[in-house]
Amino acid sequence: MDRSSTDRQEICAGLLQLPARIAPKYFYDVRGSALFEEITRLPEYYPTRTEAAVMQAHGADILQKVGAGGTVIEFGAGSCEKARGLCRLLRPQRFVAVDISAEFLHESVARLRGEFPGLEVLPLVADLGRVVELPAGLPRERRLLFYPGSSIGNFDPPQALELLTRFRGLMAADGALLIGIDLVKDIAVLEAAYDDAAGVTAAFNLNVLDHVNRLIGSDFEPAGWRHVAFYNVAASRIEMHLEALAATRVSWPGGERRFAAGERIHTENSYKYRLAEFFALLARAGFSRSDAWTDPRDWFAAVLARP
Ligand code: AVJ
Repeated sequence: MDRSSTDRQEICAGLLQLPARIAPKYFYDVRGSALFEEITRLPEYYPTRTEAAVMQAHGADILQKVGAGGTVIEFGAGSCEKARGLCRLLRPQRFVAVDISAEFLHESVARLRGEFPGLEVLPLVADLGRVVELPAGLPRERRLLFYPGSSIGNFDPPQALELLTRFRGLMAADGALLIGIDLVKDIAVLEAAYDDAAGVTAAFNLNVLDHVNRLIGSDFEPAGWRHVAFYNVAASRIEMHLEALAATRVSWPGGERRFAAGERIHTENSYKYRLAEFFALLARAGFSRSDAWTDPRDWFAAVLARP
């Protein structure tokens, strides 16, 4: 089955659930990817710049532990902005950029090739929620898997364990995983990061409706919905939802759904971890040696996990 029909089935099924849901991977059409880049520069959105500062401050340690050269494989590479820093630090032989958004990926890969002439750059369009087939012939030794930005936060704990276990399966005993983890912190800081004053996160959340309209032929009116984001303490996660401003009916070829005023579509979970919890998850996934570096406020961690 091709990707578009799998997507269509998945989206329609989600819209019919109670409560309705749309998976966060559908945020990332061309506009959504650009809005996300804008989010990473917002004053309230601390993860990107905090992670960059942690990587900057502890680059020498990371280099000492993983060594130069080898193959870097980044999942969710997006603009390849973080890859740039890592490639300058580690000087790998090759870089595999995995991302769900094909158009966005090919642009960034072209730019990266221009900046690192000796580097072999391989783009790979794939959905991490499904099985990822790395390019045939990619050397198995000396792989560093790079999963920055707290992207793992989108997966609930059982799915996160499954993903980490799959990462372990993609490397030999000399491999490593360098992963960014957003840490539990003051609720006001967390909530502001997902509901910024300029409304960029709201636009990002609402944009998923336009993307879904194109993917399944539905007739969502984004103007009839509002962005909702809050921290769920019990589950340690930010939740984003879209809330219907008034009763409405949405239809698409093969289905329809009524929404009452105030009814929500759940669009994203972004889990926050305590380091000890995350180390325990890594151990269950087959990574027994973990090191972590954090910023002075302990807001974000760069974790290096090895088998
Ligand atoms: C790309 C999943 C790491 O959870 O912080 C940012 C996505 N959503 N603002 C995050 C996101 C709203 C982001 N991740």
